[in-house]
Amino acid sequence: MNPVKKPKFETPISTEVAQKKADSIVVLMSLDEKLDLIKGHNSFFIKGYEKYGIPKVYLSDASQGVHIRESFLGLDLSDYALPKSVAFPNTLCLTATWNPNLAHDYAKSIGEECRAGGIGVLLGPGMNMYRNSQNGRNFEYMGEDPYLAARVVEQYVVGVQNTGVIATLKHFIANNTDYRRRASNSVVDERALHEIYMPAFKSGVDAGAQAVMTSYNLINGEWAGQSDFVINHLLRDELGFSNLVMSDWWSINDCKALINSGQDLEMPGGESMTNLKSYVENGEVAIEKIDLMCIRIIKTLAQMNFLDAPIKDNSYFEKFDQHEQVALQTAREGIVLLRNENNVLPITKDSDKKILLTGIYIDEIIYGGGSGEVKGYNKVTMLDALQKVYPNLTYKSEATDEDLKGADVVIVSVGTWDWEGCDRRFALTTEQEALVQKASTLNNNTIVIVNSGGGIRMNDWNHVKAIVYNWYPGQIGNVALAEVLTGVTNPSGKLPMTIEKEFSDSPAYGYVSEETSFLSDHKKYLDTSIPESELNRWSFDTSIDEAKDLLYDVEYKEGVLVGYRWYDTKNITPLFPFGHGLSFTTFKLDDVQLSSNEIAKSETLKVTVEVENTGKVNGATTIQLYVGEEKATIIRPVKELKAFKKVWLKAGEKKSIDLYLEQDAFSYWSPHTKKWETNAGKFNIYIGQSSAAIEAETKVTVR
Ligand code: BGC
Repeated sequence: MNPVKKPKFETPISTEVAQKKADSIVVLMSLDEKLDLIKGHNSFFIKGYEKYGIPKVYLSDASQGVHIRESFLGLDLSDYALPKSVAFPNTLCLTATWNPNLAHDYAKSIGEECRAGGIGVLLGPGMNMYRNSQNGRNFEYMGEDPYLAARVVEQYVVGVQNTGVIATLKHFIANNTDYRRRASNSVVDERALHEIYMPAFKSGVDAGAQAVMTSYNLINGEWAGQSDFVINHLLRDELGFSNLVMSDWWSINDCKALINSGQDLEMPGGESMTNLKSYVENGEVAIEKIDLMCIRIIKTLAQMNFLDAPIKDNSYFEKFDQHEQVALQTAREGIVLLRNENNVLPITKDSDKKILLTGIYIDEIIYGGGSGEVKGYNKVTMLDALQKVYPNLTYKSEATDEDLKGADVVIVSVGTWDWEGCDRRFALTTEQEALVQKASTLNNNTIVIVNSGGGIRMNDWNHVKAIVYNWYPGQIGNVALAEVLTGVTNPSGKLPMTIEKEFSDSPAYGYVSEETSFLSDHKKYLDTSIPESELNRWSFDTSIDEAKDLLYDVEYKEGVLVGYRWYDTKNITPLFPFGHGLSFTTFKLDDVQLSSNEIAKSETLKVTVEVENTGKVNGATTIQLYVGEEKATIIRPVKELKAFKKVWLKAGEKKSIDLYLEQDAFSYWSPHTKKWETNAGKFNIYIGQSSAAIEAETKVTVR
């Protein structure tokens, strides 16, 4: 039985041929040429050498669409800027679809837009784990669970690379806060690295990713981008990655350490490389190490066929309309209905109810900021989308008590504007929180739409009847929102992270003092014209040189107990558990059967379960299978996601679903043997529609 077929990308040119080509070029290169190849060129390029047939290769961000850059720090990039690019819903929303096939189409669309723009390297996908709800970059990543993230990443990599574009797995590794990102030292044990932080990268490497970007932070005292442990040991030796490794932008301050670390490309071509030539000339740095870096860069480009075929292909512009449809489908499947009391939703199209819409991000589209920013075109705002379906809808940016009381339904739109380079508070701004409280107290039918790149505090929203997580919808996602509110689309998104009641419930709590004055620092580092209502984040980005004096530790005390693993084990009830998401129909799981009650360590276990749509409308749910060791010899989470399947069922329909558990579903990484181990014994198997809603339990014995 080998039903678990992992997606795999095959390079158009074989590694052997590419390697030979690279070897033959590097022997011809001068030292200066080599030193220029191993550092970025004009911020976003790998330098080209016409005489060797190496093209200049354009690298561009990022995970949720192509970031259009007209310029960068005074550098004119307008010749390379795409005239347009589709703004997709953010990748955390993509993960909330629990649909890896959709991740493939999403990534393929982005790859095709790269081809239209002549972009050879996409600087994504990002896959740092959601350990901290305040991380300003959670929106670009894939949630808290390594298994779920891994299934999205492998499809993403294959989707992008099959279009002929390199995918870059980033940021390796343990980069889980953006508060003073160059100064944060992740103090993390090896087991947590292996079980929580590396699996998404491993799946990307196994799927054939051609590039990896290291992270800004330090790992146990060493900056990741110049760490032998991180790159040579973890990435190259353990994960077997042999292609291009690049640093994150301006994250290197020691070129000798970089040369010895297994890094290939310093980006974006900073001052840290200035003295390298003299080090090579005086014998402090071996030329063989520089050669190896050049060989790996050229080999990667050669095996993608960049040396022999043009990257730019204008015919892909014709596919942008299709890409927009993939973006729409992502929003349809990614929007999460968190609460729906008294079935306040759906409200049918053309309803004569008096609907009042108020709050923020209604007549503008909100997206995550920084390098991952994609603004899109053809934008459909929430107001455009909802006015189309509700003729009696009134929009008031400032609603009075009378407005709120007088409406049949109030829709309040709230959210956070998450940014790279800073974290933001878990709680909404006081103004937004007050609006939710006021609306829901004055009006019994209050629905809140959340636009955010991660979890927010919703603990006091006792009077709110429905909560819809809209994430960052991209240019067309609000159409899906209108479909969900009207019931045309039955929501099927499930949370890819836990939403805790209070941030203090989270193991990440305490890394930045709540008292830290984020306002003044915001004013110092960011655009001061940003309205008060959005000043909800800390910004302390520093240069790597300044960072030396500002180093602080982020203690990963929880080890492997990240996300629901923590809340389960510590018996802390979150507000909304991992995997949670409602539908307008109901599903029932039944009749769980195992292919055997006892398996050998090398065997695959098949788990079959019946799932039935017991409601009146068609819909989809995700069957989630969690495994927990009954008598573990080391602290292990109560349960861990090890298989899942999204299932579409017509009203009344019943299907039998097969899920497969391979050996790695039972194993843990042992800090003693420094290997993956599986204990013989009993394992609990939990099946449900969220991590907290387990509907069936059984056991298997592993021999
Ligand atoms: C970000 C990377 C990004 C790079 C290039 C950095 O600030 O951390 O994710 O790819 O800039 O834009």
